[in-house]
Parts: sequence; C-alpha cells; structure tokens
Amino acid sequence: MAAILLAGGAGYIGSHTAVELLNAGYAVIVADNYANSSPEAIRRVEEITGKQVKLYEADIRDDKKLLEIFRENQIDAVIHFAGLKAVGESVAKPVMYYRNNIDTTLSLLEAMQETGVKNIIFSSSATVYGEENSVPYTEEMKRGVCTNPYGWTKAMTEQIFEDAAKADPSLSVVLLRYFNPIGAHPSGRIGEDPRGIPNNLMPYVTQVAVGKRECLTIFGHDYPTKDGTCTRDYIHVVDLAKGHVKAVDYVLRHNGTEIFNLGTGTPYSVKEIVESFERVNAIKLNHVYGNRRLGDLAEFYANADKAERLLGWKTEKTLDDMCRDAWNWQKQNPDGYRKSN
Ligand code: NAD
Ligand code: UD1
Repeated sequence: MAAILLAGGAGYIGSHTAVELLNAGYAVIVADNYANSSPEAIRRVEEITGKQVKLYEADIRDDKKLLEIFRENQIDAVIHFAGLKAVGESVAKPVMYYRNNIDTTLSLLEAMQETGVKNIIFSSSATVYGEENSVPYTEEMKRGVCTNPYGWTKAMTEQIFEDAAKADPSLSVVLLRYFNPIGAHPSGRIGEDPRGIPNNLMPYVTQVAVGKRECLTIFGHDYPTKDGTCTRDYIHVVDLAKGHVKAVDYVLRHNGTEIFNLGTGTPYSVKEIVESFERVNAIKLNHVYGNRRLGDLAEFYANADKAERLLGWKTEKTLDDMCRDAWNWQKQNPDGYRKSN
C-alpha cells in the first residue's frame, strides 16, 4: 500500500482528497499547521472512511520537524496543498504570502532530496494563465502575467518544480491547475470553512442562505458574457479530489514534469449559480447587482482533454450537485468546524 503525505491536508481540498485516497486503498499522512483549518476535518475524514490518518501538527517550513516526518514514514508521494490562498490578503501582505507559499515548497523539496522521495503533486491554479491567454485554457499555453501576489506564488512555484525536475531526471512532478472548486462531500461532514468574510462566491452564497450574511452582491452584470455576469469553470470538490487519486497513480509511474488542468470545461455564470442554488435547494437567495470587482476576468474555463487522455479522469458531478452539496454542508455546520457535531 503506497503512502501519500498531504502537506496542508487538513484544508478544504486536502480533506476531500484524503477521503478519496483512503477509499482507493492508499495510506494517508497529513501534516498541517492549521493556519486555515482544523484537526476536526481529519477526524471526520476518518469517520467517513472508517480508516485512520496519521496526523502531524507541523509547519511545513519547519525543516527539522518535516525531516522527522519524512524519516518516520515510508513516503511514496507528496501532495503539496500547504499554501495561503486569499487573493485580497496577498495584495495587503505579499511578504507573508511569498514567505509561506515559496518556503513550504523549498522545504518539501529539500526533505525529499534528503530522504530520496521522488514524487510530488502541486496544487496550482488556473490563475497562472493570466490575462494574456484566451479561453479555453490549454496546458501548453505560456504562463501569463499574474494580477496579484497569490497568483505569482503559484507561477513561481511551478517554475521551481520545473527547474528541480530538469536538474534531477528521476524526479516526478505533476502540476495541477485547479479551476473553481466548490461543493462538499455529499455526507455534509466535511466542506469549505472560510475564516471571516468569504472572498469566494459559493461560501458567500451559503452564508447568505444560512442567514450569516445579509445579501450577495453579484459583481458586475455588464460583462460580454451570455447573461452579463462573469463565467467560471466550477468543479465539484469530490471530482477534484478524485483527480488527485489519478494524479497519484500517474506521478508514481512517470518522471519529469506534467501539467494538468482540473476543470469541467463548461463555464457557468454567477447568475446561473444563483439560479441553480435557489432551485435545487428551494431557497430564495437575497442578492443584488453591484459593480465589477477589480481584477476579475469576464470568463475563464479549462480545456480538460489532457487530464482525460493521460489520467483517465473527467468530472461526473453537475452544477446542481455542487449547489446541493454546498448547502447540505453549510446547513449542517453553520459555524463550520468550530461547533463540532
Ligand atoms: P485551505 O486553506 O483550506 O488548505 C490549505 C491548507 O494548508 C490549510 O489546512 C492550511 O492550514 C495549510 N497550510 C498553509 N500554510 C501551511 C504551512 N506553512 N504549514 C503547514 N500547513 C499549512 O485551501 P484549499 O482550498 O484546500 O487549497 C489547497 C491548495 O490549493 C492551496 O495551495 C491553494 O492555494 C490551492 N488552490 C485552491 C483553490 C481554491 O479555490 N480552493 C484554487 C486553486 C488552487
Ligand atoms: C478567485 C481568484 C483566483 C483564485 C480563485 C480560487 C480573484 C481575482 N481570483 O477566482 O486567483 O485561484 O479565487 O481561490 O480573486 N463573485 C460575486 N460575488 C461575490 C463573490 C464572487 O459576484 O461575493 C463572482 C466573481 O466576480 C467571479 C465569480 O463570482 O465572477 C467567482 O468568484 P470567486 O469565487 O472569488 O473565484 P474567482 O474570482 O474565479
């Protein structure tokens, strides 16, 4: 049974990936400093799967501690989720973002070098396509100019991995460019648990629905899109997690660097999200139209063919599934993991 280390594995995407890896028969080790998560998520992963996770409270930048984790376990592959991800905060605190997101990467690569671990998967983002490329995005497009420090940390980390794999031909790197992950595990036991006011659309929607926020503002309705609101490639987090299982199978069998978009290939507008959410959950969502948000692109979505071709993966869930599962999580856990039940 191969063992996979999830750096930052207690977070939103990491916890869902842990479930799918355990279900696929992998052993899972999680290291997280809970900067944006809670150990409760991992307790619930164990509850959902009936299997155990080896859990470490650790800052990935703590080289000594990290090396202990690598030495105590026979690690076959690493998935690097450990990063700060709030775009606005990255503009206000760029040094903190570069320090965290770049140093976690370097520490992981050094620990891997030290212990002979050769396989790593990185959580990158569609944001690296920048404004220069046109939709749908394909993996061979050049990285664009990022609009914020968070995006730059993703672009820079991709470069670091590419250079490391060039220098060491036995290294195997998979860069996963996520589009817009939303939704939650259908059990409603794990999901997205943002701290403070959510920046992203779906957690804002669910918090309005549960009465924690007054009203959703739809940012702009004069975009050159099908209904004037921005379109995105929303992907169910369980589909995304299953993509990681396929990426693990792949990274264990190859060398060099490979990039994959993880998206559905189908864009939906903000208006369509609101409509689907209201319909499948039989809820009226208080919303108004406001100004455009600075830095937003009118549309972005993936060409997801490469992942289907090389990983044998494609998404299965619908937009309605995403809206239903997001609400199921939020209404069962109005305060996220803070009030456990
Ligand atoms: P998340 O914040 O829920 O998970 C990230 C996890 O990393 C958290 O548990 C956090 O505590 C941990 N972490 C951060 N810095 C750490 C450190 N120095 N040491 C140990 N742990 C640390 O976010 P997520 O949505 O699950 O995202 C996972 C990864 O995917 C991130 O790198 C994020 O940038 C990337 N990503 C996310 C999205 C998205 O929309 N959610 C899109 C594209 C890329
Ligand atoms: C944002 C980040 C991107 C990051 C991604 C996942 C920006 C410019 N981009 O993408 O780098 O990888 O999150 O973390 O921040 N919307 C509203 N009202 C709201 C919130 C959002 O109308 O209250 C709209 C936005 O204008 C956008 C869509 O909903 O059109 C999705 O927004 P969001 O969830 O923040 O994701 P992105 O902007 O696509």
